[in-house]
Amino acid sequence: MRMIGNNTYTAPSLGVLKTSALPIKDQHGRTFNYLRIALNEQCNLRCMYCMPEEGIDFRSEDKILSTEEIFNLIELTSQMGVSKIRFTGGEPLLRKDLTELVHFAYQCNGIESVHLTTNGLLLSKQIDALEKSGLSGINISLDTLKPEKFKKITRRNGLDLVLNSLQTAIDSSIQSIKLNVVAMRDFNDDEIMDFVELTKENDITVRFIELMPFDSHQIWKTGKFYGADHIVADIKTQVDELNPIDGSRTEHHIFRVNDYKGKVAVIPAYSRSLCGECNRLRITSDGKLLNCLYSQNEINLRDAMRNGKTDIEIEDMIRTTIKKKYIDGWKAQNQGNDNRESMTQIGG
Ligand code: GTP
Ligand code: 5AD
Ligand code: SF4
Repeated sequence: MRMIGNNTYTAPSLGVLKTSALPIKDQHGRTFNYLRIALNEQCNLRCMYCMPEEGIDFRSEDKILSTEEIFNLIELTSQMGVSKIRFTGGEPLLRKDLTELVHFAYQCNGIESVHLTTNGLLLSKQIDALEKSGLSGINISLDTLKPEKFKKITRRNGLDLVLNSLQTAIDSSIQSIKLNVVAMRDFNDDEIMDFVELTKENDITVRFIELMPFDSHQIWKTGKFYGADHIVADIKTQVDELNPIDGSRTEHHIFRVNDYKGKVAVIPAYSRSLCGECNRLRITSDGKLLNCLYSQNEINLRDAMRNGKTDIEIEDMIRTTIKKKYIDGWKAQNQGNDNRESMTQIGG
């Protein structure tokens, strides 16, 4: 039994976890210290490249990991060398226990930073609680700064709410604030410089992300793809100085423009030139471990926990799955059949 905030949780195996302290490694010598946990599949937007208007066949509540199960997985993996946690979705702010989860991860031995990826609609109201819970970073998804385009891409209103959340996040004490912009030809390629200009006065990182083929309706095939090299070349032609600096491992190209306060990055999510540095484990909202964003082979940690497997057995499942990880996302994609309908079933 443990107290998190005002709530008490029972997590049967907590406190008696037994894992070996060795780091998690794959057959190619990469070490994994970053765990992404999807908290749900539900979302309050319907981004064109992610989900159809009518949504998808969402899994029922009982299939989704419970608070205690997520606590267990964080504690277990933290003992195996995971030091960075990111909560994704769906939309993680729709989950009632989010602040408890953040706080649990924050106080867990070995966890150095706790992050959130969100669409920002509900963020401003919860920012105080998240700040107090120990959140280190927020990545907000926003593909346009124009209301009519926002409605087109998300099929909902709400740009003002997201911009307000961004400002609230910048004003908070949360250290790392980033904007995720999925770059799409003939949709927002004319707004690249407007996004870059946000870094002039704000110490944020604006990241342009390559469109990926994870929607069953395949808008990806409609010519909107805008590759990382083109994005970088486009920015270069429009600014005086683009100075390379350091960033996270998904930020394969990262720069400071002139003497701006923030940074600009490009994530080659589709072209996958970032795989050599991969350090990420992924757990879907229904508790399946993926050893690559593009993997179609999953291992069910939820059922293992529900069937009473020991921590040692679950540790072994995690190590075996990661060990078998392919050299890159291209190889991973070519194994198995892709039957996913939306990015929310992976967690981004
Ligand atoms: P930082 O920790 O701040 O670098 O965030 P992140 O880029 O790891 O996470 P975020 O949830 O903000 O993801 C941003 C984009 O990068 C999303 O479109 C992800 O799908 C994509 N992305 C994240 N991790 C990977 C990865 O391992 N491989 C690929 N190909 N894309 C990824
Ligand atoms: N291609 C690229 N990025 C995507 N995201 C969701 N679906 C896709 C896709 N098909 C992004 C979101 C969010 C992050 C978690 O993943 O915009 O920023
Ligand atoms: Fe890692 Fe797979 Fe992403 Fe490449 S595509 S960076 S291997 S998760």
